[in-house]
Amino acid sequence: MKLAVVGATGLVGSEILEVLDEHQFPFDELLLVASERSAGKKLSFKGKEYTVIGLSQAVAEKPDIAIFSAGGSTSLEWAPKFAEVGTIVIDNSSAWRMDPSKKLVVPEINGKALRIDDRIIANPNCSTIQMVLALAPLREKYGIKRIVVSTYQSVTGTGKAAVDQMMAERKGEKPDMVYPYKIDLNVLPHIDVFQPNGYTKEEMKMINETKKIFDDPSIQVTATTVRIPVMGGHSESVNVEFKKDFDLGEVRELLSNTPGVVVQDDPANNVYPMPLNAHKRDEVFVGRLRRDESQPNTLNMWIVADNLRKGAATNAVQIASYLVEHSMA
Ligand SMILES: NC(=O)c1ccc[n+]([C@@H]2O[C@H](COP(=O)([O-])OP(=O)(O)OC[C@H]3O[C@@H](n4cnc5c(N)ncnc54)[C@H](OP(=O)(O)O)[C@@H]3O)[C@@H](O)[C@H]2O)c1
Repeated sequence: MKLAVVGATGLVGSEILEVLDEHQFPFDELLLVASERSAGKKLSFKGKEYTVIGLSQAVAEKPDIAIFSAGGSTSLEWAPKFAEVGTIVIDNSSAWRMDPSKKLVVPEINGKALRIDDRIIANPNCSTIQMVLALAPLREKYGIKRIVVSTYQSVTGTGKAAVDQMMAERKGEKPDMVYPYKIDLNVLPHIDVFQPNGYTKEEMKMINETKKIFDDPSIQVTATTVRIPVMGGHSESVNVEFKKDFDLGEVRELLSNTPGVVVQDDPANNVYPMPLNAHKRDEVFVGRLRRDESQPNTLNMWIVADNLRKGAATNAVQIASYLVEHSMA
């Protein structure tokens, strides 16, 4: 197994390395890839020093699997070049997610759709992954009619430069601006670019990707995505209307029995999910489970996960593991 991590110097890339180590992903050779700016730079992983290489050199090495987290334009240009030499690309960017010929995979939900000839596999948007993982068992039992989601997203979701902006603001220094406004002590109802319909691209990703992952265009979804000055993970308020009525105890039980989901729901003892506790964890945390008393068959829930983990690195490594376990790579 020759494995390439493309974008290895970035936030998601370094998280991928941690997850590969923790999950003991089996490989014989590791290629750490970034832009030409970083080529030649040294990175250490598991006590060994690696020299960062550029994309052309990485393609020439014909890796078996390449996990990409280097932005959409890099993926659009380079994923096909890797695919051409036989590499399976698992891509964290949004470049291929809505391409009808590419699978959009959360292994616990639709890993079974993967086939041996899939060459570019898309990792969904971080906010979408944590929401669909928590909703999947409930959808199976009660059917979903409509989802209303509002997010509270970590600055780590924008990458290293955004974390630098927030930290510089905290120190009173003049930062290089990634966001249009100050992020520390502020809330931006704006993630990714605005679309002609007034939604942001992040909101449209949540809407469209949810339908694709569940393979159900009839699910109604509306989203408001918001950036907050927090590290550690994304939080979401999700209001979901089911086709059938539910029992709250059964909802708790279904979620508790779902691999990768942890229920933290004990309001009497102030137990609920928070990014502070989700940080560096692979699981998706669910709490504040309560009936929406304003309309039938509707549940309110609070979902938190580390966007760099299940929202990106963990999900990508799980896809790679699935391929290995099923002898597809
Ligand atoms: N952050 C998240 O929560 C999250 C979640 C899901 C998906 N993603 C996606 O993952 C990707 C990376 O996000 P990030 O947060 O890790 O960003 P980041 O911290 O800014 O890192 C970007 C990485 O991409 C590399 N890169 C940039 N331009 C490149 C080029 N032309 N050729 C090769 N490598 C290039 C950078 O290398 P240099 O160091 O050499 O510039 C760096 O390793 C994005 O597509 C993002 O949408 C992020």
